[in-house]
Amino acid sequence: MSRTDDLFALFGKSVSRDPAGRNARLHFFGSIPFDDGTRVNQKEGSRFGAYAPHATEHRHPAPLVALRPTVVALVSVNGGVGRSTLATALSSGLQRLGESVVALDLDPQNALRQHFGVDHELPGVGRSSLLNAPWRSILQSGFAGCQVIPFGDTDTQQKENLQGWLTREPTWLAQHLSALALSEADTVIIDTPAGNNVYLHQALSVADIVLIVAKPDAACLGTLDQVDELLAPHLERERPPRCHLVINQLDENSAFNLDMLDAFKLRRGEAQLEVVHRDPAISEGLAFSTDPLDNTARSLAGDDINDLCRLLIARKKRL
Ligand SMILES: Nc1ncnc2c1ncn2[C@@H]1O[C@H](COP(=O)(O)OP(=O)(O)OP(=O)(O)O)[C@@H](O)[C@H]1O
Ligand SMILES: [Mg+2]
Repeated sequence: MSRTDDLFALFGKSVSRDPAGRNARLHFFGSIPFDDGTRVNQKEGSRFGAYAPHATEHRHPAPLVALRPTVVALVSVNGGVGRSTLATALSSGLQRLGESVVALDLDPQNALRQHFGVDHELPGVGRSSLLNAPWRSILQSGFAGCQVIPFGDTDTQQKENLQGWLTREPTWLAQHLSALALSEADTVIIDTPAGNNVYLHQALSVADIVLIVAKPDAACLGTLDQVDELLAPHLERERPPRCHLVINQLDENSAFNLDMLDAFKLRRGEAQLEVVHRDPAISEGLAFSTDPLDNTARSLAGDDINDLCRLLIARKKRL
């Protein structure tokens, strides 16, 4: 059993899956017709109505050369480090630099919609997926012309059902993204829940670039081994994602913050290290659901986010 299977086993599920995530990648490279509004057979024993066909049920494997968007996943073991904030700011920043961005919330906390000022009652990933409705119908307007797919409100039972489904269907996200028919001009920015969970592994299975978000503190430094473990099975893929460690909320006036930054530099391993400074204007953006880049236009944090956007664009061109 691979390490990923161990992780899935944590949820009490015995799953037959593709440990290297290769199926997910193969299918994402192609264009599997899925989630186009067509109802599919109801699977016996399924805890909810419609059930997606398993990837291996498709008879004609898709070509590997199909155009596809670049996928960026923001991940962390620790909560409250700024994943959703950076997902929002990067989506706006990339769009301002001419990219076409879809920000996707894979966190049942449903917080990304607050960052973008999207009504919490609008349907999102959670309920739509359980109804097998296409994600195209839940795209909302974000900042600077980008688009947002919120997670949407879900109750406890819906969260459990979805988690069960995702555990059994490791290509769930790849199929939904494929059905959106995005092109290589598009970038998908995925916000994930903190820690080890099915949403994280779905995101990692399709990610080209992983941004590991951490604050310059001992708590985040102390979880880097766990981050390595979570990433390990996904790095075994034929085309593994490129990882960047993003130290967020750095305060240059804090000697402790600077010491912690040095400690992260020593510990970063293969990952490149980027910095986003702490800026109260960013928190104000969340409080008022305004574009954080409007408030940080002439600040260190604004420059950092724009630098990160340019780095993502450069990385995208080399993929
Ligand atoms: N660079 C920054 N400067 C100042 N405040 C920031 C910065 N980045 C994030 N914050 C603030 O930190 C808090 C946590 O951010 P956010 O909700 O994005 O974290 P998260 O990692 O998504 O949290 P969760 O684990 O709850 O999903 C928010 O109040 C946000 O405004
Ligand atoms: Mg969040």
